[in-house]
Amino acid sequence: MIDLLGDRQYAYVYDLQTVAAQAQLLAGMGSVSRVLYAIKANPHPAILRTIAAQGLSFECVSRGEIERVLDAVPGIERERLLFTPNFAPRAEYQWALERGLRITVDNLYVLHNWGGMFHGHEIFARIDTGHGHGHHPKVRTAGLHSKFGVPLFELGDLHRAAEQAGARIVGLHAHTGSGNFAVGGWVETARTLADAAMQFPGVDVLNIGGGLGVPDRPGQHPLDLGEFDAALGQFRTGHPGFGLWLEPGRYLVAAAGVLLARVTQLKGKGAVQYVGVATGMNSLLRPALYGSYHEIVNLTHLDDPAELHCTVVGPICESGDVLGHDRLLPHSAEGDILLIANTGAYGHVMGSNYNLRAPAEELILDYR
Ligand code: LLP
Repeated sequence: MIDLLGDRQYAYVYDLQTVAAQAQLLAGMGSVSRVLYAIKANPHPAILRTIAAQGLSFECVSRGEIERVLDAVPGIERERLLFTPNFAPRAEYQWALERGLRITVDNLYVLHNWGGMFHGHEIFARIDTGHGHGHHPKVRTAGLHSKFGVPLFELGDLHRAAEQAGARIVGLHAHTGSGNFAVGGWVETARTLADAAMQFPGVDVLNIGGGLGVPDRPGQHPLDLGEFDAALGQFRTGHPGFGLWLEPGRYLVAAAGVLLARVTQLKGKGAVQYVGVATGMNSLLRPALYGSYHEIVNLTHLDDPAELHCTVVGPICESGDVLGHDRLLPHSAEGDILLIANTGAYGHVMGSNYNLRAPAEELILDYR
């Protein structure tokens, strides 16, 4: 990995074997009839191809994401794509329908005001179950204060609006949030959707969203996929009329990526020691945006004792440009390479050119 970085100051490095292994785990869940990768987590073409090769489908939230999949995986069957826009312009829906893509509608406005374009189409509807789950308030996507989904109290209106538009609702969807480990949350979502489906006789798919958590601290327990599969299997036994879809993003790619960044400068301000690296929130926004924890090690001095209590910061002109608070690292020097772990999901794709500093480029590990 150090060789791959070469004389660069910083870069993301991805391991496709880890992506493939995660995809295989999900594909092996007998209770789930379709797994769609939420490409917003990491739309790198090589990652998309790796996931496509494992037979997974793709969930996209913009025209750009759909086009990325079509470019990266030429010839992919249209039914392996699902388009889930939110507050997108009218033309984007029209564009997708013209290409025969399945759309998840998440607002009555779309059916009330643009109903004509859905005439004769089969659609999914995103429901707000009322209960958000997630690692941070900003990633909980249900409840009145979240902009997503049709609330349960509008189900009757949804039914009427779809009928008036001449659209057939064949699937119900809910994604309640990200970074979850409690299996009960998805079962609860599936039950809520199954209850809602009583009003929609054409529905035979329940898409229970993504949000599968990935441990970020040493010693944290991973999501128990066996338990998850068993719980969903039990649900299906009680509701044999529905296929279950899952659409995880983070679970497939988080552990497959690391951010490498060289140490630039060191500083001590009284009791607080700062270790500066060559990129920060312009490459990895999660710590600043959600307070997310990412393990950090000094790759150049991996075996040295971790004796320096420090805060790891980037070069961006914001006090929030911190990659790790209160960490223990070996004594580090200019040019050392720090590895920031678990950054394959929502890393590069949420990067920016803030301060006109280019975000980290993406490199793929090659085992040959
Ligand atoms: N499906 C829908 C409709 C979604 O909105 C999302 C994520 C997913 C699936 C995939 O969620 P995942 O399995 O990756 O948790 N940037 C945040 C996560 C926000 C995700 C937004 N929607 C983070 O870095 O934690």
